[in-house]
Amino acid sequence: MSSEPSVPTVQVLAEAARRRTFAVISHPDAGKSTLTEALALHARAITSAGAVHAKGGRRGVTSDWMELERERGISVTSAALQFGHRDHVMNLVDTPGHADFSEDTYRVLAAVDCAIMLVDAAKGLEEQTRKLFAVCRHRGVPVITFINKWDRRGRDALTLLEDIETHLGITPVPMVWPVGVAGNLRGLVEASNTEQMRRYTKVPAGTHAAIEELLTAEEAVEQEGEPWQNALEELELVLDSGPGWDREAFESGKITPVFFGSALTNIGVKLLLDSVVDLAPAPAPRPLAAGGSREVTEEFSGLVFKIQANMDPAHRDRIAFVRVCSGVFERGMNVTRAASGRSLTTKYAHTVFGAERTVVDKAYPGDVVGLINAASLRVGDTLFSGRKAEFPGLPAFAPEHFAVARPKDISRSKQFRRGVSQLDEEGVVQVLVSDRRGDQAPVMAAVGPMQFDVVLHRMEHEFSSPITLDRLPYQLARVTDAEGAEVIAKDRLTNAEVLIRRSDDALLAVFADRWYLNSFQRNKPDVRLDPLIATA
Ligand code: G4P
Repeated sequence: MSSEPSVPTVQVLAEAARRRTFAVISHPDAGKSTLTEALALHARAITSAGAVHAKGGRRGVTSDWMELERERGISVTSAALQFGHRDHVMNLVDTPGHADFSEDTYRVLAAVDCAIMLVDAAKGLEEQTRKLFAVCRHRGVPVITFINKWDRRGRDALTLLEDIETHLGITPVPMVWPVGVAGNLRGLVEASNTEQMRRYTKVPAGTHAAIEELLTAEEAVEQEGEPWQNALEELELVLDSGPGWDREAFESGKITPVFFGSALTNIGVKLLLDSVVDLAPAPAPRPLAAGGSREVTEEFSGLVFKIQANMDPAHRDRIAFVRVCSGVFERGMNVTRAASGRSLTTKYAHTVFGAERTVVDKAYPGDVVGLINAASLRVGDTLFSGRKAEFPGLPAFAPEHFAVARPKDISRSKQFRRGVSQLDEEGVVQVLVSDRRGDQAPVMAAVGPMQFDVVLHRMEHEFSSPITLDRLPYQLARVTDAEGAEVIAKDRLTNAEVLIRRSDDALLAVFADRWYLNSFQRNKPDVRLDPLIATA
């Protein structure tokens, strides 16, 4: 079973300490792809960052990152991008940028130690940003804010900060301040050094990285005059009225350090990248479901946060993405799946970066490893070697869309059942059943309706069992217990029913709308109805 560790503990500690594992959360179009590219190119000191942002044919491609990989030869997959910066290893975990939101977006946040919240300077806080922020808060993931597109006309900096404070309930602490209003960005001033201005000059050809010059405060007064004075005054005002930078407050979600810039012209991107190194936490001990925690230096443990099937259509395979939480992952090692107590070998472990899939030999806390064809694994699983580790399961979010699935061809019921089980295990949708409806008519429950499109497509093309999905008139789900289920069943309500979630046998009471739920609660105040994690 477990053998002598081939990597000394001090080395594990040192490797963990230089890792930063983070994600970018944003509303579609805020500039996540542009920023990702700018960060990666910056880190690799490729001077043409920004100039390469050719998005022409990118729309409609399944993964923006795969396209990025093709364009730039940067090492990516659709799960994580790894690059070096200042002797640190940066693991940027992808959050799918669907126009619609879905549960997998939220789950990947279980794999990161920090998130960059990207805000469009003109649009401010948008719906998906708020939802993703709520998940970060729920999971205790600290958030760094980057206000993007300052090269374009947008809102006023103070108003944007006020919105963050009012709508998200977190105190923004500016680390840099823009010199010049949105649309007329002259440069940036750092809160830690107001004696210097970073001035940027756009290159005429448009999307090229702007040129940076450093100006002393005297030069800034002389050459930039009013915008510089205003920037200093505003920055002082905000800093004086706020709590200032404090690591503990950041890590406990009370404050968010704020950066301004423009991903497209590469303004402020390096400061942001430096901040991830300087401010974001390194992998830390992870709490265990049974209490206590797993130290990063203990033997290997990892969390399966995403399962992706058919990434490579030629191979029809299934990859389980694992975030290493402790110890060293070594290819070929035997690991145990906590849920079943069964062991599996990791012969087919790959790094999730590299233009080709590269076989991974070693990975450290914070890294992401893809296990190929590990069919038994499910999202939320813990893998470990040595002392048992089991991390708390990933949260199931409150579904808002419900539909009954039925096979179009009942002679293919075996394929139908296999497909439904597989999609349930992958967490593509939550599968709910009830005695009343039977196994041949499971209810698919989703956070975002796009999850249904994926189900329809995969049932037909991957499992050869085309299905129909008939929408049910429910919008809300609550967790109840056996007594509650009995009350609801007995009342033969038309606008509610209780269904069993297959993944964990939870009893979900589903309701047509809030009005109906409220009146039910008024009439039956003793029925247990606990909220699930809401994204709205
Ligand atoms: P997403 O992944 O969050 O969906 O956003 P993406 O990077 O694709 O950017 C969305 C649009 O915003 C793109 O324009 C992109 O060029 C633009 N953008 C991103 N960052 C900045 C910025 O700092 N300043 C300005 N002015 N624009 C920015 P598009 O017109 O949709 O595409 P493209 O044809 O320009 O590439």
